[in-house]
Amino acid sequence: MTTPHRITVLHGPNLNRLGLREPAVYGSTTLEAIDASLVALGADLGCVVTCFQTNHEGAWIDAVHAAATSADGLIVNPGAWTHTSIAIRDALLSVALPAIEVHLSNVYAREAFRHHSTIADIVVGRIMGFGAESYR
Ligand code: DQA
Repeated sequence: MTTPHRITVLHGPNLNRLGLREPAVYGSTTLEAIDASLVALGADLGCVVTCFQTNHEGAWIDAVHAAATSADGLIVNPGAWTHTSIAIRDALLSVALPAIEVHLSNVYAREAFRHHSTIADIVVGRIMGFGAESYR
């Protein structure tokens, strides 16, 4: 039997408010429902999916470091840190894990300050604009 791929999903600030937060932008699905659907999808695909959300940048970085030994790949939605944080870029560079950058909204259809990502050039790929489906 092959070892299942281990995928860690890391959500950044304010994503715990999904379902309540600006539903016209982010939809009505809660983070709990998104995480449950990813765990179930992972099981179908032979992957072990672990999800984590924090509003604290240092805790998010600690989770990236921990994933270095506990995961085979990352799915990251760093929220607003995407646009501002060199520390999250350095954290992802410090671990040799492939990462996919995800956003619920199409950041290019929004304010100019959301058009810049500090991690766009170091991730394997970027998926955005499909609401909760972006993660899947
Ligand atoms: C977001 C987009 C970011 O610009 C914003 O700060 C978020 C959520 C998204 O998933 O669409 O918090 O990452």
